[in-house]
Parts: sequence; C-alpha cells; structure tokens
Amino acid sequence: MSKKLFIETLGCAMNMRDSEHIIAELSKYENYSLTTDLKDADLILINTCSVREKPVQKLFSEIGVFNKKKKEGAKIGVCGCTASHLGEEIIKKAPSVDFVLGARNVSKIRDVLHKKGAVEVDIDYDESQFAFSEFRSSLYKAMVNISIGCDKQCTFCIVPSTRGKEVSIPANLIVQEAKKAAKSGAKEIFLLGQNVNNYSHEGKDFSDLLNMVSEIDEVERIRFTSPHPLHMDDKFLEVFASNEKVCKSMHMPLQSGSTEILKRMKRGYTKEWFLDRAFRLRDMIPDVHISTDIIVAFPGESDEDFNQTMDVLEKVRFEQLFSFKYSPRPLTKAAEFADVVDSKVASQRLSTLQKRHDEILDEITDAQMGREFEVYFEELRSSGGVAGRSDNGFLVQVQGSEELLGKTKRVKITYPRRTTLYGEVV
Ligand code: 5AD
Ligand code: SF4
Repeated sequence: MSKKLFIETLGCAMNMRDSEHIIAELSKYENYSLTTDLKDADLILINTCSVREKPVQKLFSEIGVFNKKKKEGAKIGVCGCTASHLGEEIIKKAPSVDFVLGARNVSKIRDVLHKKGAVEVDIDYDESQFAFSEFRSSLYKAMVNISIGCDKQCTFCIVPSTRGKEVSIPANLIVQEAKKAAKSGAKEIFLLGQNVNNYSHEGKDFSDLLNMVSEIDEVERIRFTSPHPLHMDDKFLEVFASNEKVCKSMHMPLQSGSTEILKRMKRGYTKEWFLDRAFRLRDMIPDVHISTDIIVAFPGESDEDFNQTMDVLEKVRFEQLFSFKYSPRPLTKAAEFADVVDSKVASQRLSTLQKRHDEILDEITDAQMGREFEVYFEELRSSGGVAGRSDNGFLVQVQGSEELLGKTKRVKITYPRRTTLYGEVV
C-alpha cells in the first residue's frame, strides 16, 4: 500500500510548480500518493511563502495544529521560501518539524525525507536542471519553469535571499518540456520565472523563447508570469502583441506610481516609463488585460507619492489588482529605512486604492456584457458549471460538464460579475 502525502502550497506559481516537483519525486521513488485528509497522511509538507510577514507568523501556529492532528509517526516537513529564510531556526522553534527544505533545494526532497532534523537551504545550489517534473496538477495546462532565482534587488523583496541567483534554463530543454506536456494534452503552457522577460540563454531572449514555444503544433496558448516592467522593450511587446498563441494578458507589477518611491524600491523604471509601456500595450491590443501588484505605504511614501499611484490606477484602469500594505522583511534593504508610514495611514491608503479599483472594475465588468470570447475550459467549479480563461485573461464560466474540459469554445457573456464572467457557449 502506498504512503500518503498531504501538501499545503502557499504563495506564487513558482511554489505550485515546486510542489508538483516534490509530489513527482515522492510518488515515483518513495511510493507516496496524495491525500487531502491530514489525519491520513504519513508525511505532511507545508510549502511556504515569505514575501509578507503574516503567513510566516501563521506558519508556527499551523505546525502546532498539524502536529496535534497528525497520525502517530507521521512526519512534518517545511519547504519553500520561509524554509530558505529561517532554516534550522524552524526546527529549534518547532521540534515537531522533521526537516526543512529550501525553495532552491526541492530536488533534495528524498535526501531530507530520511534524515530527522535535516536542513537543506543552500541558495547557491543550481536547481535549473531539476526544474522539470512529471507530475502535473492539471491535465489541461502545464507550468514550465524557464528560469530560477532573481538578480533584482528590489529593496522590499526577500525573494533574492530565498531563491538565490537568477539562472536561465536552456531554451531547448524548455521547448522539449513544453512539447511533452502539450502532446499529453496540456494545450496551454504557462512559462514561469521570477523575471521571465529577463530570460537570457546563449543569445536567446524571452521573445525568442515565446516564438520557439509557439512553434509547437500542439500548443494552443502560452501564458507567463511574472514579467518585469523594466524589461518590457519594444521587441517583447511586439512579439506579445503579434504572436497569436500568446494570450493577451499581461502582469505589470507597478509597486508604486511615484518615481521617487520606485527609486527607493530600486525598481529601475519611472512612472512615465510604466505608463508609456501600458499605453503602448493598450494601443497595440485594444482588448489587452493588464493586471498589477501595488504596495502602499512603503517607507517614506507621502500623500503626494500615494496620489501618483492613484493617478496610474486612473490612467491604466487595470483589469486586476493585487494590493498589499508594505510589510518589512528581514534580509532586505528597506527593512532598515527609518521613515515608516503610520499603520493607520497605510490601512487608509490600501482601502482608498481598493475602493477606487473596485469602481473601475465594475465599469470594466459591465462593459463585457454581450461580448464574445474564445475560452479554453480547464476546471469544473464546485458551484456547478465549467470555467476557463478567455484569451485575454478573464475567468469565464458556463453551464456544462466534463466534455468541455480541454476544449476552446466561443462564449457570449450574459451575466458579467467582478470575479467571473458568466456566459453561454455560442
Ligand atoms: N511587502 C508587501 N508586499 C510585498 N510584495 C513583495 N514584497 C513585499 C513586501 N515586503 C508584493 C509585491 C510583489 C508581490 C508578489 O508581493 O507587490 O509583486
Ligand atoms: Fe522581488 Fe523584485 Fe525579484 Fe520581483 S523582481 S521577485 S519584486 S526582487
């Protein structure tokens, strides 16, 4: 009988892919199969995120809960970015943890599994050759790593300290992986990296890579995350706009609309550059879907700086916003900045930003009424119905069953809501 693995994955797409990798290793070599029942598990893994403080605080209480509920003899492992960052401190603070495996060490899962107290958190370790794995949580789309790590030094971000230096994976390996996935039915390829459009390997850049992946016959759609606004040069935007297999949905993490704050964040671009790129995209692709990440109340952010962020929101009218209050992180430059913003002011700014975005989003949503989109169906919803993404990134749901999964259909929107556009196959 197989042993059971319970795995909780927090954070970004990179973490989701790392979890797939861990699952593949454990099922292939260690006879594990997945369970969603904690009490049934022989091994409990928490794949953590450390980008903000709250989830890190929650980790230890969660370990306590898992330890109480787990069956006799079950092991607990902590993986991911918080594992990289806290290392052996985790076991000191929570002795019920059997091992700690950093975000850049996923391929060592089998080594740590059998060593009580093992800690593998080397951020110089080159995981790029292990970035592929056979387990995929979806039959219809496949995440494919194109690079690991991050060389940017954004002053708020802990990621370079948890995932290490940026390494681009050879393009031929990426294409081979995408081909394999597409041939087995995943018509959508999701390219992953911390800074995808900084990809560079043997003279090939990210635009070249997009074109190469699009030449695979079985691939119908290509998405990617995350690009960096700094590297949105004309060549990239043109390939993005003109390559028909590349979905017209772009994540443009703004972080702040104030050039002064962007400088303190070391983002490498100005408000004007960001606006220029966003307008260029809207000009080239009238239907483009632009999402963003915004941090409010970064140290030193004045009312005027915040107004600059609101101004960008007003001008770009993002289709999707992920917004956060600045959270000081260890191992980052900004954690040393003394001019912290009062937490009440931070909350007010976050709420002002989100409120205005919701209004804009309501207008964008209403405008989708009656429109038609090509939707690639990939998910049965628990509420009934089948969901998928429109080419330009909207979540669309229709009535239907499994038969729609893995197919692309034209859908007319009949009931647009903020998070989901409901419609009918035409
Ligand atoms: N505080 C708040 N938000 C942060 N992010 C990254 N670091 C921090 C931090 N210290 C946000 C950024 C990034 C997203 C993944 O998380 O907006 O784009
Ligand atoms: Fe963090 Fe900046 Fe790298 Fe993104 S680009 S992961 S924000 S350091």
